[in-house]
Amino acid sequence: MTKRVAILISGGGSNMVALADSMVGDHPARPCLVLANSDQAGGLEKAASRGIPTAVVDHRPFGGDRAAFEAALNTALAPAAPDILCLAGFMRVLTEGFISGWQGRMLNIHPSLLPKYRGLHTHARALAAGDAEHGCTVHEVTPALDDGPILGQAKVPVLPGDTPDSLAARVLTQEHRLYPAVLRRFAAGDRSPIFLT
Ligand code: GAR
Repeated sequence: MTKRVAILISGGGSNMVALADSMVGDHPARPCLVLANSDQAGGLEKAASRGIPTAVVDHRPFGGDRAAFEAALNTALAPAAPDILCLAGFMRVLTEGFISGWQGRMLNIHPSLLPKYRGLHTHARALAAGDAEHGCTVHEVTPALDDGPILGQAKVPVLPGDTPDSLAARVLTQEHRLYPAVLRRFAAGDRSPIFLT
């Protein structure tokens, strides 16, 4: 049966676009909702222009009440009845309470070769460390931040003169290859990891 995929975003949504545009033809999944935590997320318009339903749950009115924010996320997700959640540049930390409800059904893309550089500023940290290569990881979401079984990685070289921005752009190009490749496999029930070079 075709899987229903909800994609959670905070910003421009280029990974969301890559995922949404991949779910065509014999792909085992289709997008059912794009959910953002800000009505300023540029990806919302891109989703709408593709005919994908959108929703916004602004985290700000909830202050520090993460549980209430997450309850509102689940309320927004429920009518779309997703089988799989894809975090795609969703920049809110989720609690164990939310994650446990979706465990085994929630993926995230992170711009580093995990377990290196969990958290933020991954490109600057790879450059500061003098790494020769960098990349991105798609993993299942578990309660620990940027942890969980790795479903795919793609590497890029670090080039002389790279800045965090130039490196980020090179990684993002790989993200757009990796995430759709992993989702396609995952939606078909295959959790074996993919390694792209
Ligand atoms: C991507 O590089 C993604 O890996 C990163 O945010 C960017 C979102 O871009 N995610 C994280 O840092 C999560 N911790 P996009 O909105 O164009 O897909």
